[in-house]
Amino acid sequence: RPPRVVFSGIQPTGIPHLGNYLGALAPWRQIQRDAVPDDVLLFSIVDMHALTTRPEPEKLRKRSWRGLASLLAVGITPETRMERGVQVGVFFQNQLPRRMELMWILSCLTSMGNLSRMTQWKSARAAQKLGLFSYPVLQAADILIHGATHVPVGEDQAQHLEFARDLADTFNHLYSPTKPILLPPQTLISPAKRVRSLTDPARKMSKSDPSDWSRILLTDSPEVIQEKIRYATTDSIQGGTSYDPVHRPGIANLIDILTWMYELKLRREGRNYDFAELKADTIKFAVPMRLKLLKGVVAQAVSDELMPFRVKYEWLTKSPDGRRELQEARWAGGKMATLGTALKLSEVREAVGL
Ligand code: ADP
Ligand code: NA
Repeated sequence: RPPRVVFSGIQPTGIPHLGNYLGALAPWRQIQRDAVPDDVLLFSIVDMHALTTRPEPEKLRKRSWRGLASLLAVGITPETRMERGVQVGVFFQNQLPRRMELMWILSCLTSMGNLSRMTQWKSARAAQKLGLFSYPVLQAADILIHGATHVPVGEDQAQHLEFARDLADTFNHLYSPTKPILLPPQTLISPAKRVRSLTDPARKMSKSDPSDWSRILLTDSPEVIQEKIRYATTDSIQGGTSYDPVHRPGIANLIDILTWMYELKLRREGRNYDFAELKADTIKFAVPMRLKLLKGVVAQAVSDELMPFRVKYEWLTKSPDGRRELQEARWAGGKMATLGTALKLSEVREAVGL
Protein backbone atom coordinates (compact mmCIF):
# COMPACT_ATOMS: atom_id res chain seq x y z
CA ARG A 1 0.00 0.00 0.00
CA PRO A 2 1.14 3.62 -0.47
CA PRO A 3 2.71 5.34 2.55
CA ARG A 4 0.44 7.11 4.99
CA VAL A 5 0.63 10.18 7.14
CA VAL A 6 -1.42 9.30 10.19
CA PHE A 7 -2.30 12.08 12.58
CA SER A 8 -4.39 11.98 15.73
CA GLY A 9 -4.70 13.90 18.95
CA ILE A 10 -5.90 13.22 22.45
CA GLN A 11 -6.93 15.76 25.05
CA PRO A 12 -4.79 15.95 28.16
CA THR A 13 -7.46 14.89 30.60
CA GLY A 14 -5.48 12.93 33.16
CA ILE A 15 -4.74 9.25 33.34
CA PRO A 16 -6.60 7.38 30.59
CA HIS A 17 -9.26 4.80 31.45
CA LEU A 18 -9.94 1.41 29.94
CA GLY A 19 -12.33 2.96 27.39
CA ASN A 20 -9.65 5.36 26.13
CA TYR A 21 -7.28 2.41 25.94
CA LEU A 22 -9.56 0.21 23.85
CA GLY A 23 -11.04 3.03 21.79
CA ALA A 24 -7.92 5.05 21.01
CA LEU A 25 -4.55 4.15 22.52
CA ALA A 26 -4.40 0.45 21.68
CA PRO A 27 -5.54 1.07 18.08
CA TRP A 28 -2.82 3.73 17.72
CA ARG A 29 -0.23 1.26 18.99
CA GLN A 30 -1.51 -1.22 16.43
CA ILE A 31 -1.10 1.38 13.67
CA GLN A 32 2.55 1.69 14.69
CA ARG A 33 3.00 -2.09 14.64
CA ASP A 34 1.44 -2.27 11.16
CA ALA A 35 3.42 0.68 9.77
CA VAL A 36 5.36 0.21 6.52
CA PRO A 37 8.42 2.16 5.30
CA ASP A 38 7.75 5.84 4.60
CA ASP A 39 4.73 5.94 6.91
CA VAL A 40 4.70 8.96 9.20
CA LEU A 41 2.72 8.70 12.44
CA LEU A 42 2.06 11.79 14.50
CA PHE A 43 0.33 11.69 17.88
CA SER A 44 -0.43 14.94 19.58
CA ILE A 45 -1.47 15.96 23.07
CA VAL A 46 -3.96 18.67 22.21
CA ASP A 47 -3.31 21.17 24.97
CA MET A 48 -4.61 24.12 22.94
CA HIS A 49 -7.95 22.37 22.56
CA ALA A 50 -7.94 21.64 26.28
CA LEU A 51 -7.91 25.38 26.97
CA THR A 52 -11.57 25.44 25.92
CA THR A 53 -12.41 23.95 29.31
CA ARG A 54 -10.23 26.53 31.07
CA PRO A 55 -8.25 24.16 33.29
CA GLU A 56 -6.03 25.51 36.04
CA PRO A 57 -2.62 26.22 34.46
CA GLU A 58 -0.70 23.82 36.71
CA LYS A 59 -3.28 21.09 36.12
CA LEU A 60 -3.09 21.53 32.37
CA ARG A 61 0.70 21.23 32.39
CA LYS A 62 0.60 18.17 34.60
CA ARG A 63 -2.09 16.48 32.53
CA SER A 64 -0.23 17.17 29.31
CA TRP A 65 2.87 15.41 30.61
CA ARG A 66 0.71 12.59 31.90
CA GLY A 67 -0.88 12.30 28.48
CA LEU A 68 2.52 12.06 26.85
CA ALA A 69 3.67 9.51 29.43
CA SER A 70 0.51 7.50 28.71
CA LEU A 71 1.24 7.36 24.99
CA LEU A 72 4.74 6.07 25.62
CA ALA A 73 3.62 3.68 28.37
CA VAL A 74 1.03 2.15 26.06
CA GLY A 75 3.89 1.28 23.72
CA ILE A 76 3.79 4.07 21.17
CA THR A 77 7.49 4.55 20.65
CA PRO A 78 9.18 7.48 18.95
CA GLU A 79 10.99 6.27 15.84
CA THR A 80 13.18 7.93 13.26
CA ARG A 81 13.36 6.92 9.64
CA MET A 82 16.74 5.36 10.30
CA GLU A 83 15.27 2.45 12.20
CA ARG A 84 12.81 0.79 9.79
CA GLY A 85 11.89 3.61 7.43
CA VAL A 86 8.96 4.67 9.62
CA GLN A 87 8.70 7.97 11.49
CA VAL A 88 6.74 8.20 14.73
CA GLY A 89 6.50 11.38 16.76
CA VAL A 90 4.64 12.39 19.91
CA PHE A 91 4.36 16.05 20.87
CA PHE A 92 2.26 18.80 22.42
CA GLN A 93 -0.02 20.72 20.09
CA ASN A 94 1.37 24.05 21.34
CA GLN A 95 4.84 23.19 20.06
CA LEU A 96 3.70 24.06 16.53
CA PRO A 97 2.21 27.54 16.61
CA ARG A 98 2.05 27.67 12.78
CA ARG A 99 -1.21 25.77 12.92
CA MET A 100 -2.79 28.89 14.42
CA GLU A 101 -2.01 30.83 11.27
CA LEU A 102 -3.60 28.15 9.12
CA MET A 103 -6.54 28.13 11.50
CA TRP A 104 -7.11 31.82 10.87
CA ILE A 105 -7.00 31.36 7.12
CA LEU A 106 -9.45 28.48 7.37
CA SER A 107 -11.69 30.50 9.70
CA CYS A 108 -12.14 32.96 6.87
CA LEU A 109 -13.66 30.16 4.80
CA THR A 110 -15.89 28.77 7.52
CA SER A 111 -19.56 29.59 7.81
CA MET A 112 -20.99 30.10 11.27
CA GLY A 113 -24.02 28.08 10.25
CA ASN A 114 -21.84 25.05 9.63
CA LEU A 115 -20.08 25.31 12.95
CA SER A 116 -23.28 25.77 14.88
CA ARG A 117 -24.50 22.39 13.62
CA MET A 118 -21.62 20.53 15.30
CA THR A 119 -22.88 18.13 17.94
CA GLN A 120 -20.07 18.90 20.33
CA TRP A 121 -20.95 22.60 20.22
CA LYS A 122 -24.66 21.98 20.56
CA SER A 123 -24.18 19.71 23.57
CA ALA A 124 -22.08 22.21 25.53
CA ARG A 125 -24.58 23.73 27.92
CA ALA A 126 -22.21 25.91 29.94
CA ALA A 127 -21.37 29.45 28.95
CA GLN A 128 -20.31 29.03 25.35
CA LYS A 129 -17.03 30.46 24.23
CA LEU A 130 -15.60 31.29 20.84
CA GLY A 131 -12.82 28.75 21.41
CA LEU A 132 -15.28 25.90 21.69
CA PHE A 133 -17.23 27.16 18.70
CA SER A 134 -14.13 27.20 16.51
CA TYR A 135 -12.72 23.96 17.98
CA PRO A 136 -13.35 22.06 14.71
CA VAL A 137 -11.44 24.72 12.72
CA LEU A 138 -8.36 24.25 14.90
CA GLN A 139 -8.76 20.50 14.56
CA ALA A 140 -8.95 20.88 10.78
CA ALA A 141 -5.82 23.07 10.78
CA ASP A 142 -4.04 20.40 12.83
CA ILE A 143 -4.89 17.67 10.39
CA LEU A 144 -4.35 19.65 7.20
CA ILE A 145 -1.06 21.29 8.13
CA HIS A 146 0.53 17.85 8.51
CA GLY A 147 -0.93 16.65 5.23
CA ALA A 148 -2.51 13.74 7.10
CA THR A 149 -3.86 11.02 4.83
CA HIS A 150 -5.48 9.04 7.66
CA VAL A 151 -6.96 10.18 10.94
CA PRO A 152 -7.96 7.54 13.49
CA VAL A 153 -10.82 8.83 15.63
CA GLY A 154 -13.79 7.57 17.58
CA GLU A 155 -17.23 7.70 15.99
CA ASP A 156 -18.04 10.85 17.94
CA GLN A 157 -15.41 12.72 15.93
CA ALA A 158 -16.55 11.63 12.48
CA GLN A 159 -18.50 14.86 12.01
CA HIS A 160 -15.42 16.99 12.68
CA LEU A 161 -13.44 14.98 10.17
CA GLU A 162 -16.10 15.51 7.53
CA PHE A 163 -15.87 19.20 8.29
CA ALA A 164 -12.06 19.15 7.84
CA ARG A 165 -12.46 17.39 4.49
CA ASP A 166 -14.98 19.98 3.32
CA LEU A 167 -12.68 22.81 4.37
CA ALA A 168 -9.79 21.33 2.42
CA ASP A 169 -12.00 20.98 -0.66
CA THR A 170 -13.28 24.54 -0.32
CA PHE A 171 -9.77 25.89 0.07
CA ASN A 172 -8.44 23.99 -2.94
CA HIS A 173 -11.44 24.93 -5.06
CA LEU A 174 -11.04 28.64 -4.28
CA TYR A 175 -7.30 29.05 -4.29
CA SER A 176 -5.67 26.23 -6.17
CA PRO A 177 -8.17 24.35 -8.34
CA THR A 178 -5.56 22.74 -10.57
CA LYS A 179 -3.11 21.62 -7.88
CA PRO A 180 -4.72 20.80 -4.52
CA ILE A 181 -2.72 22.13 -1.58
CA LEU A 182 -4.70 20.79 1.36
CA LEU A 183 -5.33 17.06 1.37
CA PRO A 184 -8.77 15.84 2.48
CA PRO A 185 -7.93 13.02 4.90
CA GLN A 186 -9.58 9.64 5.32
CA THR A 187 -11.17 8.74 8.61
CA LEU A 188 -10.00 5.55 10.28
CA ILE A 189 -12.80 4.65 12.67
CA SER A 190 -11.53 2.01 15.03
CA PRO A 191 -13.82 -1.02 15.22
CA ALA A 192 -16.46 -0.19 17.83
CA LYS A 193 -15.24 -1.12 21.27
CA ARG A 194 -17.53 0.71 23.57
CA VAL A 195 -16.63 0.00 27.15
CA ARG A 196 -19.53 0.62 29.49
CA SER A 197 -19.44 2.22 32.90
CA LEU A 198 -18.95 -0.32 35.69
CA THR A 199 -21.52 1.39 37.89
CA ASP A 200 -24.07 2.39 35.27
CA PRO A 201 -23.80 0.04 32.29
CA ALA A 202 -26.38 2.05 30.35
CA ARG A 203 -23.63 4.64 29.85
CA LYS A 204 -20.14 4.49 28.45
CA MET A 205 -17.10 4.48 30.69
CA SER A 206 -16.02 8.11 30.88
CA LYS A 207 -13.78 10.42 32.81
CA SER A 208 -16.76 12.71 33.34
CA ASP A 209 -18.60 10.15 35.48
CA PRO A 210 -18.40 11.44 39.07
CA SER A 211 -17.84 7.95 40.49
CA ASP A 212 -14.27 6.59 40.54
CA TRP A 213 -15.82 3.12 40.73
CA SER A 214 -17.26 3.54 37.24
CA ARG A 215 -13.93 3.30 35.42
CA ILE A 216 -10.65 1.43 35.48
CA LEU A 217 -7.64 3.70 35.15
CA LEU A 218 -4.63 2.34 33.33
CA THR A 219 -2.54 2.92 36.43
CA ASP A 220 -4.86 1.01 38.79
CA SER A 221 -3.14 -1.73 40.78
CA PRO A 222 -4.38 -5.33 40.46
CA GLU A 223 -6.03 -4.96 43.88
CA VAL A 224 -7.94 -1.86 42.82
CA ILE A 225 -8.97 -3.52 39.56
CA GLN A 226 -10.23 -6.54 41.55
CA GLU A 227 -12.25 -4.29 43.84
CA LYS A 228 -13.76 -2.18 41.06
CA ILE A 229 -14.82 -5.22 39.07
CA ARG A 230 -16.10 -6.98 42.18
CA TYR A 231 -18.40 -4.01 42.81
CA ALA A 232 -19.43 -3.63 39.17
CA THR A 233 -23.18 -3.45 38.69
CA THR A 234 -24.51 -6.75 37.35
CA ASP A 235 -28.12 -7.61 37.76
CA SER A 236 -28.76 -10.51 40.08
CA ILE A 237 -32.25 -11.46 38.98
CA GLN A 238 -30.85 -14.79 37.93
CA GLY A 239 -28.06 -16.36 39.90
CA GLY A 240 -25.92 -17.41 36.98
CA THR A 241 -24.33 -15.68 34.04
CA SER A 242 -25.70 -15.04 30.58
CA TYR A 243 -24.68 -12.89 27.64
CA ASP A 244 -27.53 -10.50 27.04
CA PRO A 245 -26.37 -6.95 26.21
CA VAL A 246 -29.91 -5.57 26.27
CA HIS A 247 -31.27 -7.00 29.51
CA ARG A 248 -28.03 -7.69 31.37
CA PRO A 249 -25.64 -5.01 30.04
CA GLY A 250 -23.41 -5.15 33.13
CA ILE A 251 -22.51 -8.80 32.63
CA ALA A 252 -22.27 -8.41 28.86
CA ASN A 253 -19.84 -5.53 29.45
CA LEU A 254 -17.61 -7.79 31.55
CA ILE A 255 -17.68 -10.52 28.92
CA ASP A 256 -16.93 -7.97 26.17
CA ILE A 257 -13.99 -6.65 28.17
CA LEU A 258 -12.72 -10.21 28.57
CA THR A 259 -13.00 -10.80 24.82
CA TRP A 260 -11.04 -7.63 24.09
CA MET A 261 -8.34 -8.58 26.59
CA TYR A 262 -7.95 -11.94 24.83
CA GLU A 263 -7.89 -10.19 21.48
CA LEU A 264 -5.07 -7.87 22.55
CA LYS A 265 -3.13 -10.84 23.83
CA LEU A 266 -3.50 -12.72 20.54
CA ARG A 267 -2.45 -9.63 18.61
CA ARG A 268 0.58 -9.13 20.79
CA GLU A 269 1.58 -12.71 20.15
CA GLY A 270 1.12 -12.11 16.43
CA ARG A 271 -1.49 -14.89 16.20
CA ASN A 272 -4.27 -14.99 13.68
CA TYR A 273 -7.82 -15.10 14.91
CA ASP A 274 -11.33 -14.45 13.77
CA PHE A 275 -13.01 -11.88 16.01
CA ALA A 276 -16.51 -13.35 15.78
CA GLU A 277 -15.13 -16.77 16.72
CA LEU A 278 -13.09 -15.36 19.57
CA LYS A 279 -16.16 -13.62 20.92
CA ALA A 280 -18.32 -16.74 20.65
CA ASP A 281 -15.63 -18.80 22.40
CA THR A 282 -15.29 -16.28 25.20
CA ILE A 283 -19.04 -16.25 25.76
CA LYS A 284 -19.09 -20.06 25.82
CA PHE A 285 -16.27 -20.01 28.38
CA ALA A 286 -17.81 -17.27 30.53
CA VAL A 287 -21.47 -18.18 30.68
CA PRO A 288 -21.22 -21.37 32.79
CA MET A 289 -19.27 -19.50 35.47
CA ARG A 290 -20.77 -18.12 38.62
CA LEU A 291 -20.70 -14.34 38.59
CA LYS A 292 -18.10 -14.13 41.32
CA LEU A 293 -15.72 -16.37 39.44
CA LEU A 294 -16.30 -14.54 36.16
CA LYS A 295 -15.48 -11.24 37.85
CA GLY A 296 -12.24 -12.70 39.15
CA VAL A 297 -11.28 -13.95 35.69
CA VAL A 298 -12.05 -10.58 34.08
CA ALA A 299 -10.10 -8.68 36.74
CA GLN A 300 -7.12 -10.96 36.26
CA ALA A 301 -7.17 -10.54 32.47
CA VAL A 302 -7.39 -6.74 32.79
CA SER A 303 -4.56 -6.64 35.37
CA ASP A 304 -2.36 -8.78 33.14
CA GLU A 305 -3.04 -6.57 30.14
CA LEU A 306 -2.34 -3.34 32.03
CA MET A 307 0.72 -4.50 33.98
CA PRO A 308 3.32 -3.34 31.42
CA PHE A 309 1.59 0.04 31.20
CA ARG A 310 1.74 0.52 34.95
CA VAL A 311 5.41 -0.33 35.17
CA LYS A 312 6.44 1.87 32.27
CA TYR A 313 4.23 4.77 33.36
CA GLU A 314 5.67 4.64 36.86
CA TRP A 315 9.20 4.69 35.47
CA LEU A 316 8.49 7.54 33.03
CA THR A 317 6.88 9.78 35.59
CA LYS A 318 8.90 8.97 38.72
CA SER A 319 12.51 8.32 37.70
CA PRO A 320 14.99 10.92 36.41
CA ASP A 321 15.80 8.71 33.39
CA GLY A 322 12.13 8.32 32.64
CA ARG A 323 11.51 12.03 32.83
CA ARG A 324 14.42 12.65 30.52
CA GLU A 325 12.98 10.14 28.06
CA LEU A 326 9.67 12.02 28.14
CA GLN A 327 11.34 15.34 27.46
CA GLU A 328 13.41 13.93 24.65
CA ALA A 329 10.35 12.32 23.08
CA ARG A 330 8.49 15.62 23.17
CA TRP A 331 11.41 17.51 21.70
CA ALA A 332 12.06 15.00 18.90
CA GLY A 333 8.36 14.66 18.13
CA GLY A 334 7.93 18.43 17.88
CA LYS A 335 10.88 18.67 15.55
CA MET A 336 9.61 15.87 13.33
CA ALA A 337 6.08 17.30 13.21
CA THR A 338 7.38 20.77 12.37
CA LEU A 339 9.37 19.64 9.33
CA GLY A 340 6.58 19.51 6.78
CA THR A 341 4.50 22.33 8.19
CA ALA A 342 6.69 25.25 7.06
CA LEU A 343 6.44 24.16 3.45
CA LYS A 344 2.72 23.53 3.64
CA LEU A 345 2.08 26.91 5.22
CA SER A 346 4.16 28.78 2.66
CA GLU A 347 2.12 27.15 -0.12
CA VAL A 348 -1.06 28.24 1.65
CA ARG A 349 0.17 31.81 2.19
CA GLU A 350 1.23 32.14 -1.40
CA ALA A 351 -2.09 30.77 -2.65
CA VAL A 352 -4.18 33.24 -0.64
CA GLY A 353 -2.05 36.22 -1.63
CA LEU A 354 0.03 36.83 1.50
P1 ADP B 1 -14.14 10.54 27.93
O1 ADP B 1 -15.43 9.97 27.46
O2 ADP B 1 -13.59 9.84 29.10
O3 ADP B 1 -14.26 12.04 28.10
P2 ADP B 1 -12.78 11.27 25.53
O4 ADP B 1 -14.06 11.82 25.00
O5 ADP B 1 -11.71 12.24 25.95
O6 ADP B 1 -13.10 10.30 26.75
O7 ADP B 1 -12.20 10.27 24.45
C1 ADP B 1 -10.84 10.03 24.17
C2 ADP B 1 -10.78 8.85 23.24
O8 ADP B 1 -11.18 7.65 23.94
C3 ADP B 1 -11.67 8.94 22.03
O9 ADP B 1 -11.02 8.36 20.92
C4 ADP B 1 -12.89 8.11 22.41
O10 ADP B 1 -13.53 7.56 21.28
C5 ADP B 1 -12.28 7.02 23.28
N1 ADP B 1 -13.23 6.56 24.32
C6 ADP B 1 -13.66 7.29 25.37
N2 ADP B 1 -14.49 6.56 26.15
C7 ADP B 1 -14.59 5.35 25.58
C8 ADP B 1 -15.30 4.14 25.92
N3 ADP B 1 -16.05 4.05 27.02
N4 ADP B 1 -15.17 3.06 25.11
C9 ADP B 1 -14.39 3.13 24.00
N5 ADP B 1 -13.69 4.23 23.63
C10 ADP B 1 -13.78 5.33 24.39
NA1 NA C 1 -15.93 13.00 26.36
